[in-house]
Amino acid sequence: MSDFKRTLVTTALPYANGPVHLGHLAGVYLPADIYVRYKRLKGEDIIHIGGSDEHGVPITITAEKEGISPRDVVDRYHRMNLDAFSKCYISFDYYGRTTSEVHHKTAQEFFLEIEQKGIFQQKTEKLFFDTKAGRFLSDRYVTGTCPICNNPEANGDQCEQCGTHLSPLELINPKSKLSDATPELRDTMHWYFPLGRFQEQLEAYVNTHEDEWRSNVVNYTRTWLKQGLNDRAITRDLSWGIKVPLESEEASGKVLYVWFDAVLGYISFTKEWAAERGESNLWTSYWQDPQCRLVHFIGKDNVVFHTLMFPAILMAWNEGRSNELYNLADNVPASEFMNFEGRKFSKSRNYAVYLGEFLEKFPADTLRYSIAMNYPENKDTDFSWQDFQNRTNGELADTLGNFIKRSVDFTNSKFGGVVPIDCPPHLMESFAVILTHDNDVEIDRLDNRVNLDDLIDEIGQAYEQFHFREAVSKTMDIARKANRYLTQNEPWKLIKSDRDAAAQIMSVSLNLCHTLALLFYPVIPETCNRIYAMLGFDGTIDSIIKQVVNPENSLWEQAKKPGLQKGHKLRGNSEILFTKIEDSAIAPELEKIAALLAEAEKREAGAEQERMEFKPEISFDDFQKVDLRVARVIAAEKVQKAGKLLKLQLQVGSVTKQVLAGIAKHYTPEEMIGKNVVLVANLAERSIRDEVSEGMILAVEGADGKLFVLEPSGNEINGKQIQ
Ligand code: 2FM
Ligand code: ZN
Repeated sequence: MSDFKRTLVTTALPYANGPVHLGHLAGVYLPADIYVRYKRLKGEDIIHIGGSDEHGVPITITAEKEGISPRDVVDRYHRMNLDAFSKCYISFDYYGRTTSEVHHKTAQEFFLEIEQKGIFQQKTEKLFFDTKAGRFLSDRYVTGTCPICNNPEANGDQCEQCGTHLSPLELINPKSKLSDATPELRDTMHWYFPLGRFQEQLEAYVNTHEDEWRSNVVNYTRTWLKQGLNDRAITRDLSWGIKVPLESEEASGKVLYVWFDAVLGYISFTKEWAAERGESNLWTSYWQDPQCRLVHFIGKDNVVFHTLMFPAILMAWNEGRSNELYNLADNVPASEFMNFEGRKFSKSRNYAVYLGEFLEKFPADTLRYSIAMNYPENKDTDFSWQDFQNRTNGELADTLGNFIKRSVDFTNSKFGGVVPIDCPPHLMESFAVILTHDNDVEIDRLDNRVNLDDLIDEIGQAYEQFHFREAVSKTMDIARKANRYLTQNEPWKLIKSDRDAAAQIMSVSLNLCHTLALLFYPVIPETCNRIYAMLGFDGTIDSIIKQVVNPENSLWEQAKKPGLQKGHKLRGNSEILFTKIEDSAIAPELEKIAALLAEAEKREAGAEQERMEFKPEISFDDFQKVDLRVARVIAAEKVQKAGKLLKLQLQVGSVTKQVLAGIAKHYTPEEMIGKNVVLVANLAERSIRDEVSEGMILAVEGADGKLFVLEPSGNEINGKQIQ
């Protein structure tokens, strides 16, 4: 299919400031693990590199909230997440930490290489400084009122209420989160990465991949490219992080921006993996050999960091070099989000199911299967307890588990636990046919015929193209057909009249057990290892897989052929592979959800109630101070990089005013042109996104959140005062 000799899979490094939840698992770690396990079954050379993102403001904020050091925070959550991943059988080849020495050195090396090439720019900017705390405040350390929706608790980088991306300078009444003091603006110098310098190269790079990348990934990336790429600050005034590796005074107290540092973690951790194996140069075969395929598994919120930022950093490194050139990602299979019982996972609202906690109650494989069947490939999906119970009971227990156990039990009781005859390959290939109950064991070729080879190839294709839901559901289809084959051929009856025919059915069934153990391995590895043991194999699939290095005779290929010959001895006993989930087991979970939902509704109702409370009384004179005028929109356009804002030119009598209004999601510029609007004409000027706003227009929010601009009507009213 491709010329690649090996594959490097990376998974987004979760911030080590909280436990990973099922949303993270569904979007990133499970699909990556399924892909890696599939490739290992194919006998391909592949490694999976992940780890903790241990720097950045999210860590220091958690530390301050909990009154502990950032080091304590990352130690705790790194351990917790690594443990949860391992209980969920996410098979990392290496799980690193961005606080490691190797990583600090690697990130600093990149900084210096790009600095020495003169690619970075230095810019002095005004940043808020908390005089009480004696610190510059990065975006998330500043809070204030959102200039768009008036939310009094907007963050310096984004308003959670209306979603607008902000800069701290845009906040009204900014406050420091550290001391609650009003911060002052001070000059500070930072290094900037000129992303725009790589615009053409990045466009060419994206173009070469647009056919294979998912459309969501191409679309997010293209939206950024279309807007034109801007310089991005890559340093911060913080004490927690990787020091800017320069001796100068201006570098002191500055660390690398977490996004510059985190993506390089993929490289550092591959170096650490190689060193741990005692082959310290091996990492270069994965990063600097063009015959290695690089695949980043991430969530949709991280797309541009992996399709633009990271490639641009690598392009900057590669520039002017003839050796040690880094590969760029071949694919970035970014997922959409998996919701939980109809709502978004929210760590801040504690609306989440954490992976570690889940696995204390239910087996990992049942979770892996349910999530794989709900994989958010190209649209958001939902995880519900009901669906989890139905899939576990109906598909895993009643279909797959039942088929395997019946096949093994019947062989144990009637054929001494030994495969009674060789499995004729043609029967294996077309196993879903119903054998007629005569002595010739004829095949009714018209009924239900399937071709196992073709099915397995289709499943393989689906994995290659990252269509995980399709691959897993096609695998379950084979189990369904196998189960039906056993049920409808009724060997337990047939054996009374025709032992050979029954033996043949059991031989086909047992070989299908073997096939299913291999085909299901990417998604439910622990169960498949147990099936392998029940079938009498010495090692687990996990261990056998390491010995098969020849793709021609890989375990995946072996799944197509009879793997158990006459005389092969099963282990001799069986086990229940999946315990059904009783209603009583999920009842407490449903109660918890109901309580969380009720809380959320209460919060929303509270917010509504708040809205109904009138503001404090004002005098008539106060009201008279507000100059409301009828104005006409004569021009309108979108504001670059502020998805919610329209820039309006208003004719107010003989005067023209420019107003920025947060209505771009509700009106197109064309719809606004020609409208009469109500303008607050004497509002102090404000600057938003380098644009001046000389007032505001009035609008009301409808039930579904849509904004309706107030449109006064009448004859010759333009410029008139509203009273
Ligand atoms: O969004 C996050 O959780 C980031 N910590 C992801 C980083 S991905 C990569 F750069 F490592
Ligand atoms: Zn807002």
